[in-house]
Amino acid sequence: MSSQSEKPPGDNLPIKQDNIEATSCQTMDGTTHLNNPGPSGSRRRSNPYCFPENVLCQDVTYNGVAVTQFTAAMDSIAQLKIIRSLLMRSDDVIIAAFPKCGTHWVSEMLNMLLSGTTDYVTRPKEFEMLELIEDATALDQLDSPRVLNSHLYIAHLPEQLVEKKVKLVHLIRHPKDCAVSLYHHWKQRASEKFTFDNFIKGYITEGYTDRSHQLDYLRQMAQFEDANPDHPIMHIHYEDLKRDPVSMLEALSQFVGIQTSRKFCEEVTSACSFDKMKQADKTRELPQHLNKVFSKGLKIYRKGVVGDWKNMFTVAQSEMFDQFLARQEEKGLPNNFRWQ
Ligand code: A3P
Repeated sequence: MSSQSEKPPGDNLPIKQDNIEATSCQTMDGTTHLNNPGPSGSRRRSNPYCFPENVLCQDVTYNGVAVTQFTAAMDSIAQLKIIRSLLMRSDDVIIAAFPKCGTHWVSEMLNMLLSGTTDYVTRPKEFEMLELIEDATALDQLDSPRVLNSHLYIAHLPEQLVEKKVKLVHLIRHPKDCAVSLYHHWKQRASEKFTFDNFIKGYITEGYTDRSHQLDYLRQMAQFEDANPDHPIMHIHYEDLKRDPVSMLEALSQFVGIQTSRKFCEEVTSACSFDKMKQADKTRELPQHLNKVFSKGLKIYRKGVVGDWKNMFTVAQSEMFDQFLARQEEKGLPNNFRWQ
């Protein structure tokens, strides 16, 4: 596991210039607001639903896709240029997912499978989250195979991942549970006015937040898959992991090309139970540059269950969300979500 056979030489020089372009974001009444300059000289939309400022849609796309702001400490465009030009190794694995689909969980389990131990990774997952890296050369120091992760749209991931056929572990979670988890995540840095009702209304409005919404992410992933049918992608549903983690870990081991026993998969499953991971996380410290950004703390381990949306959505909100999902399906997105 520790060979650095494909450790890239030299530093991460840009491969080519991607396209950066300014766009405008439409507001609820259809007008265009160009106030509130954002990072990189961009401009943000108005914010009637009281979302945290740094998750609002910016008026900038990069490589044809809306830019996310990451953290207040970083210049998004500069960061994206670094990420796009990162040198990949063909045995890298990238966990790619819309936020709150279980990235921390799968990352921990995959690291255990690859190391053949049930030792917890001592670094926080944010260290290997591409959009949050402070120093790209730190990734060069990691042993192969590297387990990287990202919530970025696929168009913003390292350009070399296609030619190197970097394995993608794509996580999917039921949109209502995912939305509830995301609301609580953003609520950690929002005002009292950021109610769940406000969240739902803004979240299902195209282009309101910088990521738009989970369905947009899934659509882009599906398009990538269509365009790259030979690319190794494994789709994992959070609900399947909850239901039968051992079988999922066996399949994951096969996907990343390692032999493992069912017994070891059971041990990994046990070591990565919600309670144990929550406990293990207490000893990890965020990199210093993120400490400032998440000054109120970063709580990832909230409930870890399937179906929590039933405790959050009112009937009216649920119907509104169902209509949103139906609209997405009409646009051609296959609905293969797990409901249980
Ligand atoms: P909830 O907010 O619903 O509890 P991500 O890592 O992509 O940010 O996803 C976070 C979600 O995964 C949170 O969901 C978190 O509780 C859940 N999660 C993290 N570790 C887990 C585990 N070991 N088992 C089940 N769910 C887990």
